Amino acid sequence: MEENKPKEATEAEVKGVLEHPKPAPPPGAQAERSRRGFLVKLGWAGFALFQLSWIVAFMRVFFPRVLFEPPTSFKVGYPWEYTVGVVNTRYQQQYRVWIVRESEGFYALLAKCTHLGCTPVWWEGENKFKCPCHGSGFTKEGVNYEGPAPRPLERLKISLAEDGQILIDSSLVFRQERGEWEKPGAFLKV
Ligand code: FES
Repeated sequence: MEENKPKEATEAEVKGVLEHPKPAPPPGAQAERSRRGFLVKLGWAGFALFQLSWIVAFMRVFFPRVLFEPPTSFKVGYPWEYTVGVVNTRYQQQYRVWIVRESEGFYALLAKCTHLGCTPVWWEGENKFKCPCHGSGFTKEGVNYEGPAPRPLERLKISLAEDGQILIDSSLVFRQERGEWEKPGAFLKV
């Protein structure tokens, strides 16, 4: 039992410690130690950041960037839903198109100014499309007659779908200055 008891320091040992205290660390050693510690931490942080960027890059594979564009072919309702002589702007926001109902049929105008591509506004009272950017004006048929627009608006392919609805194909355009407004597809007779 006595073996486990801590041994008391002898008088000589205590004296020795008092006479020869532990040497003090050289000046600057403490600062050097903390500088090294900081550098080690910095290294680990950089490594962790590097690993994280790899994980993020890897995860991106599962979330590819997809651009959702409106379809080029779309239906815009039945002919009987339209009123003769009225410009329908219901699909301007969604498809950038106006549907115009005349007594003989329909045509679809691309709502894009032929000057620099702004979206004109239909002015019912003045019976014209007016571009808010530089003031170009177009008749209800889409012909330019004021402002800097160099040519008429473009018309989009228009037809009847199997279910009887009006079908627009915005991938096919008809330009008046090329005589294309007379082509089949530029006008829908009903
Ligand atoms: S973009 Fe329409 S007038 Fe300039």
